[in-house]
Amino acid sequence: MPTTVLIGAQWGDEGKGKITDHLSETADVVVRYQGGNNAGHTIVVGDERFALTLIPSGVLYPQVTPVIGNGCVIDPSVLVDEMAELDSRRIDPGRLQISANAHLIMPYHRKLDAVMERFLGRQQIGTTKRGIGPAYMDKYSRHGIRVQDLFDPKIFREKLEIALKDKNKILTKVYNSLPMDAEPIAEQYLGYADKLRAHVTDTSLLLFEAHQAGKQIIFEGAQGTLLDIDHGTYPFVTSSNPTAGGATTGSGIGPKAIDRVIGVAKAYITRVGTGPFPTELHDEIGARMVELGGEFGTVTGRRRRCGWLDLVALRYATRVNGLTEVAMTKLDILSSFETLKVAVAYDSLGERFEEFPRQQRVLYNCHPVYEELPGWNTDISEVREYGDLPEQAKQYIEYVEKAIGIPVTMIGVGPARDATVMRTA
Ligand code: GDP
Ligand code: IMO
Ligand code: MG
Repeated sequence: MPTTVLIGAQWGDEGKGKITDHLSETADVVVRYQGGNNAGHTIVVGDERFALTLIPSGVLYPQVTPVIGNGCVIDPSVLVDEMAELDSRRIDPGRLQISANAHLIMPYHRKLDAVMERFLGRQQIGTTKRGIGPAYMDKYSRHGIRVQDLFDPKIFREKLEIALKDKNKILTKVYNSLPMDAEPIAEQYLGYADKLRAHVTDTSLLLFEAHQAGKQIIFEGAQGTLLDIDHGTYPFVTSSNPTAGGATTGSGIGPKAIDRVIGVAKAYITRVGTGPFPTELHDEIGARMVELGGEFGTVTGRRRRCGWLDLVALRYATRVNGLTEVAMTKLDILSSFETLKVAVAYDSLGERFEEFPRQQRVLYNCHPVYEELPGWNTDISEVREYGDLPEQAKQYIEYVEKAIGIPVTMIGVGPARDATVMRTA
């Protein structure tokens, strides 16, 4: 039974939730290993639409054990609401397992996220304002409060007092904002302890045992490669490692356990928030992608920036994640375009770049070098067999495969669970 890591190969919102759900039919364990409720994963099953932010997308299958690993940051109010929402829709959240070592997003993290962004003015990152960055800052400065602390009120209160001493100075003196009181926060958070207690465990051990027993495990990345704190378009990134390596540190499983690394990429590309985006379209083609693709964020409702597929970036994602294959989603959205462009290199500051540039200034000045491919002008949303796709659509897929050197094994042709063309390499 293979252990699979599934990651976003672009700037997030590639359709990871849908593909994870699709693959979860035969999975035993599905794990989130980084990020928090900045993620928004939409899954469509029949007439129902689920928007998950923290709970792994495998939860919709009853045999799956969903796991939130140590690398995640958890806003317990969001988690408790998400569990209640699933419960109200007849999905049992009782199987959820949460790492005792995952860090908590505290109310001051959310507040700091908002004021820090305001402070940056035109340089702002466009974060989801969910407190993600400040929670990871505390984790790495070793001032974080972890899930396990919820079960020791004395220690929780002590840690909170220490954190607030520091945070209140920053809030009031740096950001000219109001201070926060410890007691209401302690009361609220300790109130979650009873709701979460039965779910909290040593998830690294759970995964080790599942792997030893030959269970099928899927690691579900949130965000995407180009939002990775190390490998993304820094500083316009998130504060964790969505790339495949994050699956090991964020869950406590060794790299040798991983057999398969799937990169999920849209047939075009989108980005929410600010930062460089070489193939961005500011014209009516971009506007058509937004409209046809319904490109508005699941979490914040923001309009996503859209552009042509960027093969320089996809080759980069293939490399830094060690992808073994790609799942290409939303091919159906391109059905009405006469011709399609794909970026095969960049021209920037008088130089040609075949590889994704490391220099921020180079990236900002990129002019993509495009290849043009014919469109297919046919509705493909009912197609389920690769052989039934129009020739031009197959040509598009095969062009991508050749450019990145790995197979496209799944093709999304609609949001529904079964709207996927499976293709054996
Ligand atoms: P994630 O964050 O990577 O899980 O992606 P999101 O759920 O934020 O955004 C992807 C959107 O595209 C969701 O609304 C999905 O329902 C939808 N989607 C996923 N795959 C396909 C596809 O192949 N075709 C179409 N038309 N929609 C898709
Ligand atoms: P999923 O899992 C798309 C973006 C934000 C912002 C930057 C930093 O649904 O693909 P943060 O709140 O993380 O500090 O914001 O990252 N961002 C995402 N963009 N999809 C996501 O998640 C994202 N999570 C964060 O828009 O630019
Ligand atoms: Mg999303």
